[in-house]
Amino acid sequence: MPKPLRFIILTIVAAIIGSATMIYAQTNKNSLQKAFKADFLIGTAMNTAQIEESDQQSITLIPTEFNVVTPENIMKCEIIHPQWDKYNFDLADKLVAYGKKYGIKINAHNLIWHSQLPLFVKNIKNADSLKMFFENHITTIAARYDGKVYSWDIVNEALDEDGTLRKSIFLQKLGPDYIVEAFRLAQKAAPHTELYYNDYNIEDPKKRAGAIALIKKIQAAGVRIDGVGIQGHWHLGKVPLKNIEESIKEFSALGIKVMFTELDISVLPNPLAHNTADVNVQAQNSATLNPYPTGLPDSVKTEFTKAYTDLFKLFLQYKKVVSRITFWGVNDAQSWLNDWPIKGRTNYPLLFDRNAKPKEAYYKIIELAKQ
Ligand code: G3I
Repeated sequence: MPKPLRFIILTIVAAIIGSATMIYAQTNKNSLQKAFKADFLIGTAMNTAQIEESDQQSITLIPTEFNVVTPENIMKCEIIHPQWDKYNFDLADKLVAYGKKYGIKINAHNLIWHSQLPLFVKNIKNADSLKMFFENHITTIAARYDGKVYSWDIVNEALDEDGTLRKSIFLQKLGPDYIVEAFRLAQKAAPHTELYYNDYNIEDPKKRAGAIALIKKIQAAGVRIDGVGIQGHWHLGKVPLKNIEESIKEFSALGIKVMFTELDISVLPNPLAHNTADVNVQAQNSATLNPYPTGLPDSVKTEFTKAYTDLFKLFLQYKKVVSRITFWGVNDAQSWLNDWPIKGRTNYPLLFDRNAKPKEAYYKIIELAKQ
């Protein structure tokens, strides 16, 4: 068959599959995005295989269940900008095409983060060079995807647990105004894109106070910030509902959107002294720290269902100000929590199990939406 003809046929087939999936998504009663359509956006993080549609379990599931996606890794600095004058836009462009094909919004993640920096950035010694990198990085990437992505996590995890600024390379070399500057550059390069601050544990009062001060500082400088993302990496039995509720109230009082951007609930023992999502922290494995290698006991399943149900009751109570809930991954097999803070454990933090089958928690929260 001649190449152009093959291309036309493949394009038509892809379009048919795309619209069939969209129609299925819109008519499937038990879809998360359908259930919460009137309340908030429902999202997931996507890995490379999912973006390239080679992960069979996700091909129909993602467009059916979710109306917004966040790239789990491929827009991080070390991947998208590995060398001073080299950018890898390939996967991010594929994600944009994916979003277009299925009518799914994209929250790009992220522009400025102390983690996952390529070597060339870690090795920058003087402030002027870092400033040049900072400006080029934000401007080039934000401008390229303006209007193609719905929103950006402009700055990620800039705060320490006590609410002060993290002693990152950016703080040390550019000074405390670097966050305002990041938003200022992004606003200029991406006038059609929502701009967010994203962090973990900012529901905690001390860190929350730091985040509020940061947001107020951006606003006082006359720079646009559209929302704040509370990541939501929590542990079973320790989901801080009261702090979450207080945070929704206090952040929304700043006149910005409140989102839960990386939601998962770990059911495994936490070997660390506190709750964190710091990817640079690690711990040793042991049988007691990996108690459910072959399946979850019913009692834990019940507790897990209740934890998600309680959370979604709260989210629904504040649906006027909560604009998005994004899960950090599609199913348990793909969760980062199988390998962090200990490599090779078996965790069960999401609404879909290892076979991508919905759990009881999935049906319970959909019921809540209908009440
Ligand atoms: O792709 C390579 C693979 O080629 C290689 O063989 C393998 C060896 O370890 O590594 C693979 O890359 C890993 C990548 O995940 C893809 O699986 C990296 O080592 C690993 O560091 C990376 O972890 C990601 C982590 O951020 C660091 O970027 C997790 O998937 C991702 O879930 C996690 O996401 C962060 C958010 O961006 C910010 N908030 C916290 C959240 C959880 O840590």
